[in-house]
Amino acid sequence: MVQGYDGGVRSTYRARIGQKADNQPMQGKRILLGVTGGIAAYKSAELVRRLIEHGAQVQVVMTSAAREFVTPTTFQALSGRPVRTDLWDAAAEAAMGHIELARWAELVLVAPASADFLARLAHGLADDLLSTLCLATAAPIAVAPAMNQLMWRNAATRFNVELLTARGVRMIGPGVGDQACGEHGPGRLVEPADIASQIAPLLSPAGPLAGRRILVTAGPTRECIDPVRFVSNRSSGKMGFALAQSLRDVGADVVLISGPVTLPTPLGVRRIDVESCEQMYAAVQRELPGTAIFVGTAAVADYRPLACAEQKIKKTSETLALELTRTTDILSQVSASTPRPFMVGFAAETNSVEHYARAKLLAKNLDLIAANEVGHTKAFDCDDNSLLVLWRGGRVELPVSSKRELAQALTGLIVEQYLEQNAARERDSARELASEELAAREGARAS
Ligand SMILES: Cc1cc2nc3c(=O)[nH]c(=O)nc-3n(C[C@H](O)[C@H](O)[C@H](O)COP(=O)(O)O)c2cc1C
Repeated sequence: MVQGYDGGVRSTYRARIGQKADNQPMQGKRILLGVTGGIAAYKSAELVRRLIEHGAQVQVVMTSAAREFVTPTTFQALSGRPVRTDLWDAAAEAAMGHIELARWAELVLVAPASADFLARLAHGLADDLLSTLCLATAAPIAVAPAMNQLMWRNAATRFNVELLTARGVRMIGPGVGDQACGEHGPGRLVEPADIASQIAPLLSPAGPLAGRRILVTAGPTRECIDPVRFVSNRSSGKMGFALAQSLRDVGADVVLISGPVTLPTPLGVRRIDVESCEQMYAAVQRELPGTAIFVGTAAVADYRPLACAEQKIKKTSETLALELTRTTDILSQVSASTPRPFMVGFAAETNSVEHYARAKLLAKNLDLIAANEVGHTKAFDCDDNSLLVLWRGGRVELPVSSKRELAQALTGLIVEQYLEQNAARERDSARELASEELAAREGARAS
């Protein structure tokens, strides 16, 4: 039973985001995938599969060097479209000319991007089909470089990368590790699944939180007892991950700081893995600047062992006393920061849920709190849950449903409360400005 929920805008909004059942930010999107000549070109085949799996339409364009590494047939079979390779292909130009192809693309992704191609792109060359398309497109361009580590470190490549980044070309990687040439260092192609994840925000439809940065914490923390043991809790991270995904769906740029969980990262969400409360707090502090909304779903340990033993504690006595000390209260710290983001907290209670949740809302100066009753078979590590959402001016009960549906409904409430608060703030500052102007004018008249 939903209480305090005034039909109209709210329920319409909830229904609309509820309909986006599959959460496919790439569904139907047109991606032009450029493949250039490097050892990693074979990984682009896997990338095409990933993009198609996510619902994208993929048109592959290969440079002539790329064809020395992989055949167009592979990409044609995987993408279901003839691969374009040549600027001077009369038949292809008659069907969809290079300018139409450049217009067709909603995103140009070049993976792998060779050092040679980065140089051509940086200097505006248009000497083959792919570089010409890049000059002629209005779509965002993302490149995933892959090359020998010395090529990547070379001053010429560094300069080209800087030029491209300054021009708004999105760099994906490269990763660091062992290379095909037997060396070690930066220059590995980012894994196809991660490339797909990083380009998703470039394709996301604009939503009410477009351009807003949201920090979500999720999962449990682990507090070290000794090298093999820890104190933790039953949080699975499912609610936080579902919320990160639905916030991404309304256009937000979501950073997810997660404790140890076994969940896949939602596409288009940047994830940072941590273990302990202190690590989570350090990551939050690093990521906080520019954050519009902070959502603390993580079940952060309230206490940790006073010391973490360096060696494994031996089974020598019948009982073992662990001395615990308070951990950092991340929610309170963020809430006290300046500028303070819009604060969303969670409360997990075994009894008197509303009473404790409202007390937490006020004590931690939150804007919104989502409370749930937890117990042996409730909330933690389940797929379904129910939530009581409170803010200063109201309350809503979200009945039992999947965590994905709850996340969507909660996202609707966060959007409404956040936008309302922003509008009120803007009204106040406009009023302040107007009265300052009036006072100045009266002052000038009097003198
Ligand atoms: C066996 C082999 C492997 C290569 N691997 C790479 C590579 O991983 N990255 C790179 O930037 N260039 C690599 N090159 C050099 C490029 O293929 C070369 O610079 C070419 O001009 C790139 O052309 P394109 O950018 O038009 O595809 C390799 C060359 C050879 C012969």
